[in-house]
Amino acid sequence: MKHLLTLSELSLEEIALLLDEAEAFAKGKQWQPNKQVFVANLFFEPSTRTKCSFEVAERKLGLQPIPFDADMSSVQKGETLYDTIRTLESIGVQAVVIRHSMEQYFDSLRNGVNISIINAGDGCGHHPTQSLLDLMTIRQEFATFKGLTVAIVGDIRHSRVARSNAEVLTRLGANVLFSSPDEWKDETNRFGTYVDLDTAVKEADVMMLLRIQHERHGEQMGLTKEQYHETYGLTVEREKRMKRHSIILHPAPVNRDVEIAGSLVECERSRIFKQMENGVYVRMAVLKRAIESVEGGMMNGYYFKK
Ligand code: CP
Repeated sequence: MKHLLTLSELSLEEIALLLDEAEAFAKGKQWQPNKQVFVANLFFEPSTRTKCSFEVAERKLGLQPIPFDADMSSVQKGETLYDTIRTLESIGVQAVVIRHSMEQYFDSLRNGVNISIINAGDGCGHHPTQSLLDLMTIRQEFATFKGLTVAIVGDIRHSRVARSNAEVLTRLGANVLFSSPDEWKDETNRFGTYVDLDTAVKEADVMMLLRIQHERHGEQMGLTKEQYHETYGLTVEREKRMKRHSIILHPAPVNRDVEIAGSLVECERSRIFKQMENGVYVRMAVLKRAIESVEGGMMNGYYFKK
């Protein structure tokens, strides 16, 4: 069974294969499974990009997404996530895409269910498909990761995007810098070096900005939005000091004029909407991998775990 739970579980070869597959889909590759495949998108936290782009990816591959509304599901009557997944498995769903506020929610599922689980974000933990689409966007720009300096800036401690990206970018040979208010530094993350924002601006080939994750900590900074922007944000003035070839990434949603000046969101350096476009192709590649593992694991009418 080919789950995708964290990128740290994938080898660099597997990651390269997924990126190559995503590029092929971007160039128009067609692929559909041999038989009807049902997929369910279980979002227990809000999402626009991830949820909608998974659904677009599923439809492009000819898969059949099953409508699932967490607020109207039997989870509201106390059904566990495990029983929800076993139910979907029993009625013939082959893969589930899950976003959940609980970090590592998949630990209780991964060995007990015979259905592919694709992690669409677990609390502050991991966001593997976001990371893959970030890698795809960086690779399109620079063709390599080795020797690149990637600055991840903002609410590092509560960001699953920072956690996923710092680990995989380090493995790929990039130099990861973190820049964050003291309150939101993550001392447990050993995959980056903290620098002040102006150093990050000057050295980065890729400036990856993060949203403040108010929903995870409810902390106020003691600063107004304007003060946060001036102190910790990518202002119009700071952008002028970036290297000539440097690009701007942001997983979005963006808080304009907080972590990034509104006028920079669609500036020449920005690849923010390109990231979203790439998200569809990356998710097609991830879904294909999951479906093929189910097809490959089915013998004599029974599914075998891989
Ligand atoms: N980047 C991202 O995960 O966006 P959504 O929360 O809208 O899915």
